[in-house]
Amino acid sequence: MLNISKFVAPEIIFGLGALSQIGESAQRLGSKKVFVVADRGIMDTGWIEKVLNYLNQANLEYHVWHDITSNPKDDEVIKGVKKYLDSGCDAILGVGGGSPIDVSKSVAMLATNEGCIQDFEGVNKITRPLPPMLMIPTTAGSGSEVSQFAIVMDHNRKIKMAIISKSLVPDIAIVDPYLLQTKSSRLTAATGVDALSHAIESYVSLAATPLTNVQALNAIQLIAGNLRESVTCRTNLEAKSSMAMASLQAGLAFSNAILGVAHAMTHQVDGLLDLHHGETNAVLLPAVMKFNMIACADKYCEIAKAFGENIEGLSKWEGAEKAVEAVSRLVRDISIPQGLSAMGLKEDMIKRISKNTLNDACIVTNPRDVYEEDIINLFKQAL
Ligand SMILES: [Fe+2]
Repeated sequence: MLNISKFVAPEIIFGLGALSQIGESAQRLGSKKVFVVADRGIMDTGWIEKVLNYLNQANLEYHVWHDITSNPKDDEVIKGVKKYLDSGCDAILGVGGGSPIDVSKSVAMLATNEGCIQDFEGVNKITRPLPPMLMIPTTAGSGSEVSQFAIVMDHNRKIKMAIISKSLVPDIAIVDPYLLQTKSSRLTAATGVDALSHAIESYVSLAATPLTNVQALNAIQLIAGNLRESVTCRTNLEAKSSMAMASLQAGLAFSNAILGVAHAMTHQVDGLLDLHHGETNAVLLPAVMKFNMIACADKYCEIAKAFGENIEGLSKWEGAEKAVEAVSRLVRDISIPQGLSAMGLKEDMIKRISKNTLNDACIVTNPRDVYEEDIINLFKQAL
């Protein structure tokens, strides 16, 4: 029997002012002309002008493409591939939250691999090397700048496809906490809970290893201690730096240990209703944690401790409950919607999305076996 674990990560440049490293980084990857991917929201923040300035200083050409929406769609990716191939660029730079970064990865994938994007859904379907990729996150949440995931909406099937391949790990991730200051408190809250769910799901994943556990647990501790502060004050650079690191570490953890049923369910709801991924996660995570508790109570005790809960003298079940309570309290404190029905999910939609959940790649590493009736119950609890 083989018992092998692997850990992949890009080169990571982290810290206040890290954005200034973009020109040198692109040059080091051999690029002469950079395809810059952003969304319209990022274009309004002024960060792209700074990025282009740094590219100019390094005598690099560029082409900017920003025709994408939140929850990246397959048809947007197809347009992006054409733009990239027509532009004469030789590297891809994604700037933004999960959407521009996942679109950047998908464009890179289809620039060198033949077929439609649906052909690559699932694990390890990419066969040809991708163009060099650099990613600059402007949210502390998706972790996509370091992950081997790209999540893209199939607009015909109305589901989010998870594409998972080591080929999708960017070459360089540039993480500058200054960039987090332009996000609204609502987006800061939602993306922060996304990072928390990455950390928790990867920590209890069946594919967790000592290398991923240390990243995941540290991310949980940072989020427990800084997400409220980050939501409260957009210029609190200490909180922003901690959340940037937490998102990065949670990204490294889930990229290598994969996720669980909360994400498998979230992908279906987001795909159907075009919701914010972090808010859907926030509603589902406490319910899924309760469901999984009997499979990983010892690890939940560690999560409770990372949240600063005193579990001395408690049984492991009582300690594990403290983890679920601490997560629920955090979600409540940062004012995330409390139920999926308020977000547009109707009871008659549950059967269909429960079936689709079973096909999501993230379900494979959930610590407890999950059946269709379990998923139906979890969706009903979260309504
Ligand atoms: Fe996520």
